[in-house]
Amino acid sequence: MILEGEDSGCFIDPSPVAMGSGFHDTASMRVVLIPGDGIGPEVTHATRQVVAAAGVHIDWVVAPAGADCVASYGDPLPEYTLDLIRKHRVALKGPCTTPVGKGFRSINVRLRKGLDLYASVRPIVSLPGVKVPFSNVDLIVVRENTEGLYAGLEHSPVPGVVESLRVITRPAAERIVRFAFELARRHGRRRVSFCHKADVLRLSDGLFLNAARQVADEYPFIDFEERRIDNLCMELVLDPCNFDVLVMENLFGDVISDLCAGLVGGLGLAPGANIGARHAVFEAVHGSAPDIAGQGLANPIALVRSAAMMLDHIGQTAVAQRIEASVRRTLEAGAGLTRDLGGTGNTRTITDALIRNLEPAR
Ligand code: NAI
Repeated sequence: MILEGEDSGCFIDPSPVAMGSGFHDTASMRVVLIPGDGIGPEVTHATRQVVAAAGVHIDWVVAPAGADCVASYGDPLPEYTLDLIRKHRVALKGPCTTPVGKGFRSINVRLRKGLDLYASVRPIVSLPGVKVPFSNVDLIVVRENTEGLYAGLEHSPVPGVVESLRVITRPAAERIVRFAFELARRHGRRRVSFCHKADVLRLSDGLFLNAARQVADEYPFIDFEERRIDNLCMELVLDPCNFDVLVMENLFGDVISDLCAGLVGGLGLAPGANIGARHAVFEAVHGSAPDIAGQGLANPIALVRSAAMMLDHIGQTAVAQRIEASVRRTLEAGAGLTRDLGGTGNTRTITDALIRNLEPAR
């Protein structure tokens, strides 16, 4: 493990979609690791074990963030951590707690804004052995990560009244929709659905919708459809197999991500990535799960799969695929599964199963 060192020479493709590109220096791969808080340290520890067993050597540069950092650093997201990600460009992050209605601002929102990680990418795919109503789900939620109601612009003009600004800018709207189309193009996807509430939020979502229509014109070979967000929720629950790539603003994307995670087996399985032009931070969709923290019960699969996305991003595609295959085998076999998956196991037993089910490298 590394606490700090010289640059590894890693490289993130500065094109609008950096997925699938990345490191060229495979001899020494340094990735920032933020254990986070709550179940974060437990699932990051398990994930490191699986990544190591998969046969790739990552020099983890451990960086602090989380509620516990307030006491030691005076800040839940020390500038030092942001600097490490700026330097090494890629990070794997455990969840971090945000106090409700008081205390510090969301670490996640600060991180995404501070590094301009404008695109949240959350693949939602049916997995074997998981008992859910649908077995052929294969969609990607692309969420704008820096604006909307999460811009954090709230104030109280008079006592008893609070205003939260919902910020939508044309450049940010265009770049997230273009990101979604580029993702669709690169992955051979056929349709991009833009999700909005422009009938009510006429100015903000009206601007976003116009930007989406304009960008869609650049991709005549990919279908484009417009979906009202309330209708989308109903359609997703009725039949998620009808959807391909979904793109939307920040708050809608936050809610839809959890909904979609539920459709394929829950938060313990759903991976994610936050991508910018220069940096990328990979993390599970789930939070710090304070109700089970410290008990060894957390399911690490969502973070393990986020790590697989990270490995793919830095050019370690074969390793990423082996980890994904192990996840599938583990779920199918059903031994050692955690309680959220209907099993009686714990973090240790499921991690052992993931390692056992890794195919040897060729
Ligand atoms: P949560 O995702 O932490 O938990 C929701 C439910 O899912 C809980 O019952 C929990 O036990 C279960 N769960 C979540 N992940 C699991 C896992 N890996 N294995 C087994 N069960 C799991 O959402 P909640 O309770 O709304 O948020 C808790 C804290 O996490 C809050 O402070 C919130 O702000 C923060 N949060 C942080 C995120 C991040 O760092 N990216 C994302 C979402 C929430």
